[in-house]
Amino acid sequence: MNALRIRGGRRLTGEWTVHSAKNAVLPIMAASILTEEETILTGCPVLSDIGYMGDILETLGCRVWRQEGGIHIDPQGICSYEMPDALSKKIRSSIFLMGPILARFGKAAVTFPGGCEIGLRPIDLHLSGLRQLGVEIREEGGMIYCDGSRMRAGSVHFDYPSVGATENVMMAAVLLRGRTVLHNVAREPEIVDLQNFLCRMGANINGAGSHTIVVEGVKKLHGIAYQPMPDRIVAGTLLAAAAATGGSIQLHHSPCQDLCAVFAKLREMGCVITEKEQTACLHAPDRLNAFQLLQTQPHPGFPTDMQVQMLALAAMAKGTSVVVENVFENRFTHAGDLNRMGANIWVNGRTAVVKGVERLYGARVSARDLRGGAALAVAALAAEGETVIEHAELIDRGYERLEDMLCALGADAGRMDTGAESAGRKTT
Ligand code: UD1
Repeated sequence: MNALRIRGGRRLTGEWTVHSAKNAVLPIMAASILTEEETILTGCPVLSDIGYMGDILETLGCRVWRQEGGIHIDPQGICSYEMPDALSKKIRSSIFLMGPILARFGKAAVTFPGGCEIGLRPIDLHLSGLRQLGVEIREEGGMIYCDGSRMRAGSVHFDYPSVGATENVMMAAVLLRGRTVLHNVAREPEIVDLQNFLCRMGANINGAGSHTIVVEGVKKLHGIAYQPMPDRIVAGTLLAAAAATGGSIQLHHSPCQDLCAVFAKLREMGCVITEKEQTACLHAPDRLNAFQLLQTQPHPGFPTDMQVQMLALAAMAKGTSVVVENVFENRFTHAGDLNRMGANIWVNGRTAVVKGVERLYGARVSARDLRGGAALAVAALAAEGETVIEHAELIDRGYERLEDMLCALGADAGRMDTGAESAGRKTT
């Protein structure tokens, strides 16, 4: 257990290069077992969730190692179709392996996945998509047994455009004979990245980024080297961090085209943002203005993974902002900690009303999930005095040493070991 320590009040300035996206790397790692050849993923950050995915692949029989900043996955020795229970509970993305394992073995045994506690996060859409491809699914004693012996290409309709379910079913269909059409799919950029990766391996897939994905089955895929897309949420968080301090920063390897909704809100708050290919420059005013209404939606709507960071900005802005969270049920858990720092946030169900205050104050607060933890860091950068954010290991799920990024931009931030003090506390 450890904590982030941030002393607020310094304007962020300078440049940073954004690392690859956790949410792109994880499904791509799962997809690597669709071939018998080695996959090399370059430019991948060191994140605990990526480490857990590597551990799960090793338990299944793959060899996974890091070399010169790349993740190597050799799936030749894969021998198990059964997901390890304890490891699967550590990350939600373990469920992404269901489709690839089915494609590889014709059967799969998985447990219900874990992950950040930001809502109910059921997997019914994953199961329904696979059932529509003919997979027989039985749930017993906390395990899900999938029999894919009668799996065939066909038509799949999702009741809701779930990111993970879209990716899972896409991967399950890649090696099926014939055409599979997925309707009402999620349109997130990480799905486009997965399509690009699979096509480079020899798959025939079209339509990612639109409402319909068409998979023409192929017999075999081969191993490749690939650099997953940059992380739009890390980029967005750093822009929010700079905005909180009245700063001026430049981000390289930043997926500007995927950040439209975030840029629009930051501009509404008074920031000047210029974008050129993969570089974004933000110049923030001394004091941000409130935004009128921020509603999270599936892509290309405002991303739920940036909502809490914007809540932190609204807390210090001039005027009243309203935030509606439409994607997950439980994503305002950090409002209490922000209020402890002096914010004035009122939450009712999926809606938060934020009356901006002139000043936030440093406090001892606690990360309860990945993005919420990052949002507390955003608030801390603007706060007077020192903030200690406990359970920073949750932030490490998606940001490779957030404090290093912030220090490189001029913040006063560091890490503290709170081991003994926090022992026994539940983590997600
Ligand atoms: C992915 C991202 C996560 C992001 C989310 C929404 C990864 C590793 N994680 O999560 O960071 O916050 O997209 O952009 O890529 N749902 C169901 N049944 C299902 C699946 C989902 O009801 O079977 C619900 C969820 O509870 C949630 C909503 O659908 O309310 C969106 O979830 P989904 O798009 O599946 O998100 P994830 O793939 O879990």
